[in-house]
Formats: sequence, C-alpha cells, structure tokens
Amino acid sequence: MDQNCWWKKSVVYEIYVKSFKDSNGDGIGDLPGVTEKLGYLQELGVDVLWLTPVYESPNDDNGYDISDYCSIMDTFGTMEDFERLLGEAHKRGIRIVMDLVVNHTSDEHPWFVESRKDRENPFRDYYIWRDGRSEDDTSITEPPNNWTSSFLGSAWQYEETTGQYYLHMFSKKQPDLNWDYPPVRRQVFEMMRWWLDKGIDGFRMDVISLISKDPQMLCTDSEVKGHTACANGPRVHEYLREMRREVLNSYDIMTVGETPAVTVEEANQYASSDRKELDMVFQFELMDVDGGESGKWNDTRYRLKDVKQVLRKWQKGLHGQAWNSLFWNNHDQPRVVSRFGNTATPVYWEKSAKMLATALYFLQGTPYIYQGEELGMTNVAFQEIGEFRDIESLNAYREYVEVKHQISHEDMMRYLRKSSRDNARTPMQWSDEPYAGFSVCEPWIGVNDNYRWMNASKQQKDPDSIFCYYKKLIGIVKNSDIIRDGDYMEYCEDSEKVYLYRRSSPEGAIYVMCNFTSEVVAVDESMVAEDAVVLIGNYDGHRRGVLREYEAVVWLK
Ligand code: GLC
Ligand code: CA
Repeated sequence: MDQNCWWKKSVVYEIYVKSFKDSNGDGIGDLPGVTEKLGYLQELGVDVLWLTPVYESPNDDNGYDISDYCSIMDTFGTMEDFERLLGEAHKRGIRIVMDLVVNHTSDEHPWFVESRKDRENPFRDYYIWRDGRSEDDTSITEPPNNWTSSFLGSAWQYEETTGQYYLHMFSKKQPDLNWDYPPVRRQVFEMMRWWLDKGIDGFRMDVISLISKDPQMLCTDSEVKGHTACANGPRVHEYLREMRREVLNSYDIMTVGETPAVTVEEANQYASSDRKELDMVFQFELMDVDGGESGKWNDTRYRLKDVKQVLRKWQKGLHGQAWNSLFWNNHDQPRVVSRFGNTATPVYWEKSAKMLATALYFLQGTPYIYQGEELGMTNVAFQEIGEFRDIESLNAYREYVEVKHQISHEDMMRYLRKSSRDNARTPMQWSDEPYAGFSVCEPWIGVNDNYRWMNASKQQKDPDSIFCYYKKLIGIVKNSDIIRDGDYMEYCEDSEKVYLYRRSSPEGAIYVMCNFTSEVVAVDESMVAEDAVVLIGNYDGHRRGVLREYEAVVWLK
C-alpha cells in the first residue's frame, strides 16, 4: 500500500456552505464566511475542507442542481472570494476539496436548455431521452420504465416539445447526463482540469456510482426503487478509469466517491489501492441500519449489532486492498448524537457524543467530520411542516400525508424530526448571540434553540467540551501509523451494549472500548496489558473491568 498518500493521514471537515457562516447579513452562509472561520478550523486540527456545491444553481436541491460549473453562485460570493479562501486555507496548510456533481445538471444548464429544444439539436444526446411506452396505438404514453426518482414520483419527465421523456434520478430539475456520449465525458473532464488548475485539492463526487446506465435497462421495469435501479452500472469502472487517466493522474489530489448501493466487492474496484479509479468511497450501509422496511420515514432505532456488523465487514473487506472513509454524519443525514447517542440529559449528550467519535475514528480510513458534529449539535425539533426546507422532506410529506394518506400528520412530523436532511442543515452554532452568531438577520432555515448553551465559543473555552475532545482525538488519529495500517480485531461481537476492538501492527496495539448504553457494563479487559496507557477517554480516570454510562476509553500498548 502506498503510505505516502497524504489523505490517509488527514481528517476531512465537511462544510455545508449555506449553513456555515453568513458574512454579509443576508441570512445565507457564504464563502467569505468560511474564510472568516479558518482559524477555528485550524484550531480544531482538520486538514481538508470539503465544500458542498457553491456553483451557479437555481437551488432546487440546494446547489446539487448546477447551471454553470465554472462560476460561483451570487449568494455565496464571487470567484475572487473563492480564490481568496483557497489561498488563505493553503497558507494555513488546509486543503480544499470541491463537490463534483456530474451525474446530472440543472435543467437550466445551457446544455439542457439546448437539448430539450428539438430532437436534432447537437446537445440532444447530452441527456437521456426515450420514447414513452403505449399499450395500444393511442398517442397516450407511459414512461419508458417504472424507475422512481430518489425524491419520489417517476424518474421520467415528459416533454411536450419533442414528445419524449428525459431521465432524472433526482428532481425533475436535475436531468441525468448521458455518460455514454463521449462529448459529455470530454466536457466534464475539461471542467475538472479547469478547477484543478486553480489549485484545488480534489473532489467529492456526488452519486458517482450512478453515472453509467445500461441502455437495455432504460426500457425495462425494475424491482427496486430509487437510484438503486441504476447503481454500479455496466461502464462505471471504465469511465472512472478514463477519468483517472485523463484528469486525476496529473495532480496530487484526493478523490472520494459518493457511491449509493455500493458493496464491498464494488468498493474494492472503485477505491483499490492501485489507484486506477478513486481514492475512497462513501458506503451507505452504516447509514441504512435504522432505515427499516419503509426506508427512512419511521421510528426504527438502530441495533448495535447491526452497526458493528457493517463496520466489521468494511474494515475487513477493504483492508490491504482499498481505503475506507469514516463518517457518522453528512448534510444528508440526521445528527449522530441524536441518532446513535443519547440527548436525554446534558451528561449523556456530552458523553455519548465523545464516545461515538471514539468508536468510529480509530478505525482504518479517512475520518470525515460534518460541521457542528464537533460541538455535539443535535437534531432540530421543528413543529410545523413550513419550517422544513429540504425537497426530499417536503416531497415525502406531500406524497405520504397529503396524496396517499398513508401516514398521519403527527407520525410524519415525528419521522421528519428523526430523519430529515434538514437536521444537518440548521445554522452552525457559533455563539449564544442572536441566530447563534451565524448571521445578524433571520437565516434561511431555523436555528436550533439549544444554541444558547451549545455553541462553539463556549466549547472552545472549556477543556472538557466535546470540541476539545475532538481536537485531541484528531491530533491522535492522524498521527498514528497503527491506526493507518493496523489490522482489525473485535471482541464481544454479539454484545448489544459494547463495541470493543483492537487495531494492531508491528508498532503496537490500540484497544478501543465503547459503551453504547446508559448502563454501567462489566467488560473483560484482560486482553489489555497491565502496563498499557490510556490514550484518550471521556471520563476522568478509568476503572478497569467496567465501562460507565457511554464511557469510551482507548489503550495503547
Ligand atoms: C447526493 C447529495 C444530496 C443530493 C443528491 C443529488 O446524495 O449528497 O444532497 O440531493 O446527491 O445530487
Ligand atoms: Ca451571506
């Protein structure tokens, strides 16, 4: 394995720009806001920032619907603001990775504006157009197949002008690009080089496992819903290898693919250590452990055994062959401490937030921290549907409550409070000032009320805070060869209460012991030598043989 890859010893911090810091008082986070907070990020100790999309966009899906890849959206600032951020970050030794959204564009992108005009248009084949199906010879047609969009409804949209349907795996304002058409790949690669030549340090690639659609399947019904129908398509590895050759190989950068529906076998191709495709991928099995039968809209709580089973499978399945990414949160997921920890009391909140970080970040892979995770930010208790902003949540409410009457209003509100993507998108809690110090005016989405006592400025001053714990943890994990290279072994695999594992290499062994419950649990610690030292823990001192409520302790021998 190539030990010199800097991203194997880096901690990445995801910034959802719209909710991070508003510098000009319009209630929307922006690039100068990020620049303003570089000192904070440096203090935390992160090495790489991943910025969610900041490009020109009509904002149907908060910037994941791009209408111009090479310009900055006005509300986020200017290209000069971006260049300044990049320069200032580099001065502090912080790298910047951009979101690359090329499975689809906005329907307002000039390529699509052309494409939809007429069937002979030179841009027609940039997108995926198909005739509808009709039972008899009437002119009334059905979509080419039964695929559904990830935001509900058919994945096909009919266009009167040309009498065909176009494919959109997300909203109808996000038409899918046709990667089988060489000019699309050429244009995308050129755009990527343009950004890399500006000096950015890599890409996070949005739903990159969806880019290759099997032409046969486009007119065949599928048994699965949403984007799983086209994930890991027939030419996806070919296209990523081409991208590696044509673009990535010429730069010292990192790449991470967001790969819905990826398996360990697929990941070993996407992220294999011979670096023919990407450097690592995001897998979603961990995020699906509390999905339940009906997807994310339910009350299902995770079982620890399922969490451990997923982590074990990926640790063992990629070891020595490919590289993992480690994340509990991102801008599409509810907050980790609400989901896997306990927010019932301030003590449980604090202990469980620190425990969860400990449980994950000693594994092999690059850690990703999502803004506010380092403060233990929690889900938000919005009471009205009008407080939600996310297209996925609003569509789900409309479909299940208003159209199909499958879920009651009360139940759906509870499910949204548990699973909505907006839980991650409330403004970053900087201080106890109005609007959490995020902005001087009312933000685009409500602030979580707990900012009065849960905020960065308070935690930066408190050596026992979650923030200071993350700081210490980051310092440990990114400097350890055992964590980078060591193998993985687990104890008490069947326990529903504790997660215990060892990372070991010729340099030594690290034992990670985490209690996921609010009970005191007896554990056998005989595998840890008497003279082992505590690297980090979330209680003062440690009593051997016992893990207190949400206790985490890490030994080095
Ligand atoms: C990814 C993004 C998500 C977006 C979707 C469509 O999953 O993380 O926010 O809605 O892709 O671009
Ligand atoms: Ca602003």
